Amino acid sequence: MSDDGPVLAAEGLTLGYGGDPVVRELDLEVAEGEFTVIVGPNGCGKSTLLKALGRVNTPVSGRVLLGGRDIRSQRAKAVARRLALLPQSPIAPEGITVRALAARGRFPHHTLLRQWSPRDETAVDEALELTGTTGLAGERVGALSGGQRQRAWVAMVLAQDTGVLLLDEPTTYLDIAHQYDLMELFARLHRQGRTIVAVLHDLAQAARFATRLVMMSGGRVVADGAPGDVVTAPLVSEVFGLACDVVPDPRTRTPLVIPHERP
Ligand SMILES: Nc1ncnc2c1ncn2[C@@H]1O[C@H](COP(=O)(O)OP(=O)(O)OP(=O)(O)O)[C@@H](O)[C@H]1O
Ligand SMILES: [Mg+2]
Repeated sequence: MSDDGPVLAAEGLTLGYGGDPVVRELDLEVAEGEFTVIVGPNGCGKSTLLKALGRVNTPVSGRVLLGGRDIRSQRAKAVARRLALLPQSPIAPEGITVRALAARGRFPHHTLLRQWSPRDETAVDEALELTGTTGLAGERVGALSGGQRQRAWVAMVLAQDTGVLLLDEPTTYLDIAHQYDLMELFARLHRQGRTIVAVLHDLAQAARFATRLVMMSGGRVVADGAPGDVVTAPLVSEVFGLACDVVPDPRTRTPLVIPHERP
């Protein structure tokens, strides 16, 4: 992206569903090449924020800028060529196969004159390969296990081949090995230059992979910075109501949360 400013930004963003706002006056700037992880308690507004960053939610007030321009002033298809969103609970069309789902990721790249091409075929093959779903390509998404289905959705998002990835709890339903496989894949994509904003619940995983952690509570950002500065015992206690020790991960030295026994 040619702009020098943040690739994605929220300015005074207030979001809601008709009642009290769920996200209030939130400012956030995401620089190109960052791997940002958003953490926070259930219901604090993480998915609501991510959907607004992905142009799915219309703000009550404030705005989202993609490449320096209001995302609502840009056409959905143009946005989808720069930014892909993996929602928290995506719903697949009835009867669709894994390969056909991944192929949907190519839709933003098509025009009247430029329909399905070998380039699309390659992108889908690569996305299936990267997510370990090549062997499931012909299966119906609805007939997969939770973890297999999640990987099929990630394949769709990767096939979209965007510079920015917004991932809402991408490792949900995955066993521990597949979780780390997927996080390592995102880390590799990040090293290759992608900008990633992910919502995760596992603080250790978040701290291990993020270049920047954003902690939310009650619709606001309460901490933002290097993982080691954000995952601290006082903040985890204040934000999650969990008394804990925070110790360095013996392998990566990133923070690990060890909860205290409940009295
Ligand atoms: N479609 C909706 N209609 C009305 N209220 C909603 C809707 N989606 C979310 N909310 C409300 O907005 C608040 C924030 O929800 P959100 O999904 O953003 O939380 P979250 O931080 O992603 O939580 P979780 O960790 O459980 O995924 C919650 O109080 C929720 O009930
Ligand atoms: Mg959520």
